[in-house]
Amino acid sequence: MGVNTGVADKIATASDLLEKLQPIDEALRKCRYQQDALIEVLHTAQKTYGYLDEVILDYLSLQLRLPPSLVYGVATFYNFFTLEPQAEQTCVVCLGTACYIKNAAAILAQIEKTFSLETGKTTSGGKLRLLTTRCFGSCSLAPMLTIEDEVMTKLTPEAAIEAIRTKLLLSGDGKAREEA
Ligand code: FES
Repeated sequence: MGVNTGVADKIATASDLLEKLQPIDEALRKCRYQQDALIEVLHTAQKTYGYLDEVILDYLSLQLRLPPSLVYGVATFYNFFTLEPQAEQTCVVCLGTACYIKNAAAILAQIEKTFSLETGKTTSGGKLRLLTTRCFGSCSLAPMLTIEDEVMTKLTPEAAIEAIRTKLLLSGDGKAREEA
């Protein structure tokens, strides 16, 4: 019984995958699987899924008979293609000198710990992305960070967490609440 369930799960996963790839198949058919249509098909995929993951890039490489390195190269060369899901909220912590001396590293560490998030990455639900910068040009307000268009200044680690949680709660649905 357990074996059958495992097989059924695999079939469901494969059929999910085929369904997911349907818009790409259509785009490939439209361009008659021409190798020089790679950018056009990548555009379709980016528009459909919001980003290009490994499965999509490998599939295109296979279907267009192009080396994976070429497909990855094109996808990473143009900045209108993204390889990761875009987050709903992006938090940028300043690690410039003025902010750094005022404890910015502790703020960053607290954010990483609280949201189980590495700098440069996005939370699994796609709600929050964490980045750093080298100076916002407002050093008298250090330490500071931004969340989307909001600027938060003279922060403590606790105040930063509170501010991010509030922003996530205000921005979304129940899922955002879970991540917050
Ligand atoms: S060092 Fe952070 S704003 Fe300048």
